[in-house]
Amino acid sequence: MANKKWFQDSVVYQVYPMSFQDSNNDGVGDLSGIVQRLPYLKKLGVDVIWLNPIYKSPNKDNGYDISDYKSINPTYGTMVDFDNLLSQIHKQGLKLMMDLVVNHTSDQHKWFKESRKSKDNKYSDYYIWRDPVDGHEPNNWRAAFGGPAWTYVPQRGQYYLHLFAPGQPDLNWENPQVRESVWDIMRFWLDKGVDGFRMDVINLISKPAGLPDAPAPAMYPEVEALVADGPKLNDYLHEMNEKVLSHYDVMTVGEMPSSKAEDAVDYTSLKEDELNMVFQFQHVSLAPNPNPKLGKWNDQPVKLTELKEALGHWQKALDGKGWNSLYWNNHDQPRAVSRFGNDSPKYREVSAKMLGTTLHMLQGTPFVFEGEELGMTNVHYTDLNQYEDLESINFYHELVDQDKIIDGKTMLKYLAHISRDNARTPMQWDSGLNAGFSKVEPWFALNPNYKQINTEEELKDQNSVFYYYQKLIRLRHDNEVIRYGNYEEIDPQDDQVFSYRRNYKGQAILVISNFTDQTLSRDYGQGKANELLISNYDDDKGAELRPYESKVYLFR
Ligand code: GLC
Repeated sequence: MANKKWFQDSVVYQVYPMSFQDSNNDGVGDLSGIVQRLPYLKKLGVDVIWLNPIYKSPNKDNGYDISDYKSINPTYGTMVDFDNLLSQIHKQGLKLMMDLVVNHTSDQHKWFKESRKSKDNKYSDYYIWRDPVDGHEPNNWRAAFGGPAWTYVPQRGQYYLHLFAPGQPDLNWENPQVRESVWDIMRFWLDKGVDGFRMDVINLISKPAGLPDAPAPAMYPEVEALVADGPKLNDYLHEMNEKVLSHYDVMTVGEMPSSKAEDAVDYTSLKEDELNMVFQFQHVSLAPNPNPKLGKWNDQPVKLTELKEALGHWQKALDGKGWNSLYWNNHDQPRAVSRFGNDSPKYREVSAKMLGTTLHMLQGTPFVFEGEELGMTNVHYTDLNQYEDLESINFYHELVDQDKIIDGKTMLKYLAHISRDNARTPMQWDSGLNAGFSKVEPWFALNPNYKQINTEEELKDQNSVFYYYQKLIRLRHDNEVIRYGNYEEIDPQDDQVFSYRRNYKGQAILVISNFTDQTLSRDYGQGKANELLISNYDDDKGAELRPYESKVYLFR
């Protein structure tokens, strides 16, 4: 693997600003709060911080609806606070990655406010407008957050497209001026010194020619599959690279729901003519995730063989050609330990560590979502009123009240497993008032288990999930085989143990993870290893694998 770059050697920590640390006691996290916690991130050992959107926004979708790309949402602070955050981050030897949300803007953005006025103003072609067809929407597309993907504006006598909420109109990337405006936003932040971008649903920017109907049942998943990886996506990413990215030393990751590994070879080519890596969705789309409307939902855990197939496929497809991002969870996904591990008091810690090992030993750039390094869990809500997220709430109303396809109790069970709100409860710093997040009531209720699960406790305990993650990150930094080794699957049909080897320049690691609460026995030749690099139990019993046991052996 020639030309190794810092993005390949880094570990990224995702900060959800709203829920990380409140410094001015208004109940919402902010930029100065992040500054206060930089020593903590430094201690964990990560290299890069990714911030979810902090720009001016009416916050219909927690900042993913931007009304001004060049100013800071006042709840988070000012541009002076931002400049200070960036310089403090750099002072600590860390880097900062911003969220770039340019598939759509807010409907409160000045471009859209102008665009909706007429068919012949400067911004009229900035969005995707279509005439009604027989008095109806131009096609059958449904939006991600429920309802049709089209909203009618009488003033123009036309519909505009929004793949997400009506407050998130899609930009018309066919228009060269739109692209120039995006490059301009990117340069604004890059010239300030930011070190890269995570690009929101960037694989949806090139819409299929003629905007054809989606195949039945034409719910959002079918629409997404139709729109993803559109005809001009590679062209747009090339242009972005040529005009902007290639002029800076930056790291980029494109969020790409529905994209296939085969396509990601181009997007993430080591030639670096598009992006550095993508967030793929295959492993987080396994049951019990699919739309309950399609009758696929069950509350059984994810099948390990499917999980191995999903992750292994990407490992093999991109090896030597492109580069993977590695993640278990983020602000859109439930907590990893609740979803893929076991969040009961007995197994929470050991299974959180097992998941950490399994992911951090793969090839790619690992992303840690705030609180994952503590083994934070899902919040287990039982009432719709407890939810904040528009996706969860809209989904409930659509399926339960409107379409009457699923009963409320089942839907709540589904949301408890899957809702994005599981990830969005405030960070658990200590067992005191509001978990140390804020002195006033937080914007969103804390997970009640903060008394037991919090940073203060974990920093006191050398055996904590925190210190285990710290060690995983250190191991990656110290071992080329972890960073660059190839991926060799072991026994893909084993539905209890996830095991693989990585090989690099005559060295190898063997990773073994028991995904069950049973004691098992597996011999992959670990007896011949030179060294046990890390394990989540105090001793090593060779072929015996205790519940959720995970270990990494080095062969020299
Ligand atoms: C991405 C974001 C998500 C947001 C959506 C629309 O998937 O991660 O939070 O709701 O895009 O911008």
